Amino acid sequence: MKPANSTAIRPDLSDKAARFTESVIREMTRLAIAHSAVNLSQGFPDFPAPEEIKRAAQEAIARDVNQYAITWGAKAFRNAIAEKFGRTQGVRVDPEREITVCCGSTEAMISSMLAIINPGDEVVVFEPFYENYGPDAILSGAAPRFVKLQPPDWTFDPEELAAAFGPRTKAIILNTPNNPTGKVFERAELESIRDLCVRWNAFAITDEIYEHMLYDGARHISPAAIEGLADRTITINALSKTYCVTGWRVGWAIAPPDATAAIRKVHDFMTVGAAAPLQEAGVVAMGFPADYYEKLARDYLIRRDRLLGILTEAGFRCFKPRGAYYIMTDISAFGFPDDVAFAKYLVKEIGVAAVPGSSFYRHAADGKNHLRFTFCKKEATLQAAAERLAKLKARV
Ligand SMILES: Cc1ncc(COP(=O)(O)O)c(C=O)c1O
Repeated sequence: MKPANSTAIRPDLSDKAARFTESVIREMTRLAIAHSAVNLSQGFPDFPAPEEIKRAAQEAIARDVNQYAITWGAKAFRNAIAEKFGRTQGVRVDPEREITVCCGSTEAMISSMLAIINPGDEVVVFEPFYENYGPDAILSGAAPRFVKLQPPDWTFDPEELAAAFGPRTKAIILNTPNNPTGKVFERAELESIRDLCVRWNAFAITDEIYEHMLYDGARHISPAAIEGLADRTITINALSKTYCVTGWRVGWAIAPPDATAAIRKVHDFMTVGAAAPLQEAGVVAMGFPADYYEKLARDYLIRRDRLLGILTEAGFRCFKPRGAYYIMTDISAFGFPDDVAFAKYLVKEIGVAAVPGSSFYRHAADGKNHLRFTFCKKEATLQAAAERLAKLKARV
């Protein structure tokens, strides 16, 4: 008998899955490992998490907090999230009816979108955008309408934004402080977004994962704190970046009760719940005093300025970020055909990994002059990058 032919015709795979590619950011991390490059691509810190929360996680496991937490989040953790949101942003939320703890902000975002999107719905997305929002739109069945953030200061044209809204708009996705641009949305911008959300009866889904990384006097305003926006805002956040624990996969969505009820159902059937002992540690994290966040921002400012210096010296034109921990650069001066060719050259020949700008745009050509670097790295890593990038000028 002939062996089964592995290329035999089999059922079709999902059309949705065929419509997006693997994450370019995570692919760059794999390339960085393969070429022993300094990894300034993916935004995970390479320095330790605070001792207090590591200890709290260890103690929770020792205390046998090892079974499912309540599917939408341990009560103590939801209470702590609500308390911190009130303390830092002045937004009062009901932890019993308005918070869903998820597996990272990634799951909070897709669960929220699956909970609100119907066929034919549109979502407005600022471009360049964090690459997950593209697949999130496809998976949830939303049609994205893109609005450009224009360099150098990444402002948007209010008319372009207004034109992107319409009767089919279900939501706008906002990320402030912004990845990849470092833009921090100002109150007036948020108010204009509020006006459009109210006019077209749309949600604002806001990803605030970099809320504490702010520079040069920038202030983070949670869209839920804008008058008239709270009852239509879904706030996405996580422990990941603020507490240096991207691998813990603990995040949350804060939304009005009816939206929360839908988000909780989607979340339950997708993941059941986030890691129970790590939610216990999250209670400790939420209780950190203001000086934890002040020091975090101070330390990141030093890293930002260090990487700005390194990149400028190496010949990059940098867009100075006011928040988050990335530097978007212009690479036109290097004369490469596009961002992907240059990123591959950098990782293989120079030994530094960065993310091609095209992964943040719908049309690759719009990002072809950009490369994004992260500075959430310890000094030794930035120093190693400096030494390698110093070779760049002589080579190209
Ligand atoms: C804007 C933004 N949102 C969400 C995430 C992912 O967050 P989490 O690890 O909590 O899923 C990232 C990670 O880089 C990000 O930059």
